[in-house]
Amino acid sequence: MKLIVNVSDNWAIGKNNGLLFHLSQDMKFFREHTTGNTIVMGRKTLESLPNSKPLPNRENIVLTRNRDYHPEGVTVYTSIDEFIANTPKRDNVYVIGGESLYRDLLPYCDTAYVTKVEKSVDDADAFMVNLDNDSNWQIFDISKEFEEKNLKFRFVTYKRV
Ligand SMILES: NC(=O)c1ccc[n+]([C@@H]2O[C@H](COP(=O)([O-])OP(=O)(O)OC[C@H]3O[C@@H](n4cnc5c(N)ncnc54)[C@H](OP(=O)(O)O)[C@@H]3O)[C@@H](O)[C@H]2O)c1
Repeated sequence: MKLIVNVSDNWAIGKNNGLLFHLSQDMKFFREHTTGNTIVMGRKTLESLPNSKPLPNRENIVLTRNRDYHPEGVTVYTSIDEFIANTPKRDNVYVIGGESLYRDLLPYCDTAYVTKVEKSVDDADAFMVNLDNDSNWQIFDISKEFEEKNLKFRFVTYKRV
C-alpha cells in the first residue's frame, strides 16, 4: 500500500478539516497517481472533498466507526482490520488521509509520496508522522523544485527500509 500527502516543513497537513495548500501541480500529481486505483480515507477526509462526494474514476474506501454510514459510491469499513481483511491486494491502494488514517495505516505502507512545501505552519491542527525522523523510512527520490503561489515545493518519494 502507498500513502500520498502534502506537508509543510513541520509536517503539518491540515487545519479546521481543510488542506493547508491548494497547488494545481500537486493536485495533478495526486490525480495522476490515484486515477484508476483505489483510495482509502477517513470519514472526515471524505466530508472535506467537494460536496462530500467520492473522487471520480477511483474506487473510494472510507473508514468510519459508524455502522449506519453509507454514502453513495463508497465502500465503507468500520475498522482497520475489516479493511485489511477485505483488501488482500493492496499494491494499487493509496492512503489519502487524514491524520488518523496516515498514522494507523502507515505500518501497512511501503511507499510514501510526500509533497514537501517549504513553509512552516504553526497553527495547524493535523499532522503527518515525520518520516525524516523515522528510521523505518528513507528518501528514495526527490523531484526538482516547483513554485506556485509564492510557495516552493518538491515531490519526495520515501520507501520503507
Ligand atoms: N495534506 C494532506 O495531504 C491531507 C490529506 C487528507 C486530509 N488532510 C487533513 O487531515 C485532517 C483530517 O484528519 P483527521 O484525522 O481529523 O480525519 P480523518 O482521518 O480523515 O477521519 C477521521 C475519521 O475516520 C474514521 N476512522 C479513523 N480511524 C478509524 C478506524 N481505525 N476504524 C474506523 N474508523 C476510523 C472515524 O470516523 P467516525 O468519526 O465517522 O467514526 C474518524 O473520526 C483535515 O485537516 C484534512 O484537511 C490533509
